This record gives sequence, C-alpha cells and structure tokens, in this order.
Amino acid sequence: MLELEAIKKRRTVRKFKNTPADEKLLLEIIDCARLAPYPANVQPLKFMIVTEKAGSLFKYTKWAGYLEDGAPADGERPPSYIVTLGDKSIKKTGDFYTEGAIAGAVMSIAAEALGIGTCWLGAIDRDGIKKELCLPENLEVVYLLAAGIPAQKSKAVEITDSIKYYIDENNELCVPKRSMKEVLYSTLPLERG
Ligand SMILES: Cc1cc2nc3c(=O)[nH]c(=O)nc-3n(C[C@H](O)[C@H](O)[C@H](O)COP(=O)(O)O)c2cc1C
Repeated sequence: MLELEAIKKRRTVRKFKNTPADEKLLLEIIDCARLAPYPANVQPLKFMIVTEKAGSLFKYTKWAGYLEDGAPADGERPPSYIVTLGDKSIKKTGDFYTEGAIAGAVMSIAAEALGIGTCWLGAIDRDGIKKELCLPENLEVVYLLAAGIPAQKSKAVEITDSIKYYIDENNELCVPKRSMKEVLYSTLPLERG
C-alpha cells in the first residue's frame, strides 16, 4: 500500500537540489497537516512556506549532530522551509510541541508520498527566525521542515552497536533503527522469529 510505503521509506534528507519543489505540492503537504488529529481539536497551528527567503533562515538551523560535516554545503541547502507556527491567540496556555510533532510527522510522510524530501529541524534559533520573518507577537515558531527535491540517498539499517546515523561507502546516509523484536514489548513470553 502506497501510504505504508511512504511511512516506512521516509528518511531525513539533508542535501537538496537547487530548484524548489512545486508550491502546489507544498500546499498539499500543509493541507494534510491541517486535517491531522489535534488535542481537543483546537488546531492552533499556522504554516508558512518560505522559499524566496530560504537562504536567510539557514543560519538559524543546526544539522546532523552525529556527522562531522553534516550540514548541507552551499548549493545543497534547502530551497524551501515549511515553518510551523503556534498561534497564542488560539491556544493561550502551554506550548505547541505536541501539535507541532503531529504536524511534522504528517507533513514529512505526505512529502515522501509526493517525492519531496524533508528534514525536520528542532535545533533552531526560534527568536531569530521570528525576527527574520517579521512575525507578529501572537505567533511562535515551533519547528522548521526543510523541504525540496532530495540530492542524497538515505536508508534505514539494522542497529548493530549504535543509534548514530552515518554515511556509508556509497555516500548513502544510513539510519540505524531498532528491530521489531526489540520494540515489541510483552509481559507474556512471545514466540518471536
Ligand atoms: C523533533 C525533531 C527534531 C529534529 N531536529 C533536527 C535538527 O535540528 N537537525 C537535524 O539535522 N535533524 C533533526 N531531526 C531529524 C532527526 O535527526 C532524524 O529524524 C533521525 O536521525 C532519524 O532519521 P530518519 O528521520 O531518517 O528516520 C529532528 C527530528 C525530530 C523528530
């Protein structure tokens, strides 16, 4: 089933082609987040597509902590970002990280289904981005989603001794994932293959 393939095949992409993805597709991705489940159906998020000013957002981001040279070089940087914003005039108390995470998961999977690569960015200078984008007081920056046509291959691999992602001999980004055997929990002795 296509949907499951998009969920399982989606991997973070940190190198992009220069040409931005079609804006219609980025809008489609946001439409998926709009229809996502949210606590008490409050829907306090707003989404902003940043393409023209994408270059000016890069300095507020941090990339691939486990790689020595993990940040995209000039020419491989994200051509667009989807900025997830929390509207404090809709949700007056608490933070927006649960809602932002739901939106991030839905959007990164929707993007994969549309052939667009993404990198979810949480290690960001939120105040810097808010100023750069001239956002009004009521809007808080929650997450960025870098989005574009992938210029890097990445795949899930079985964990051997570390959770740290790495670049293999074919220049592919390998992301160790815990096995089903490890993540399935039961108090009963289960027969596992
Ligand atoms: C909440 C959240 C914040 C993240 N922040 C960053 C970030 O600031 N920079 C980065 O390079 N990757 C970031 N990532 C991407 C993760 O490193 C990536 O999802 C993880 O290594 C697993 O790889 P996969 O997405 O290919 O499965 C973030 C992911 C999540 C879910």
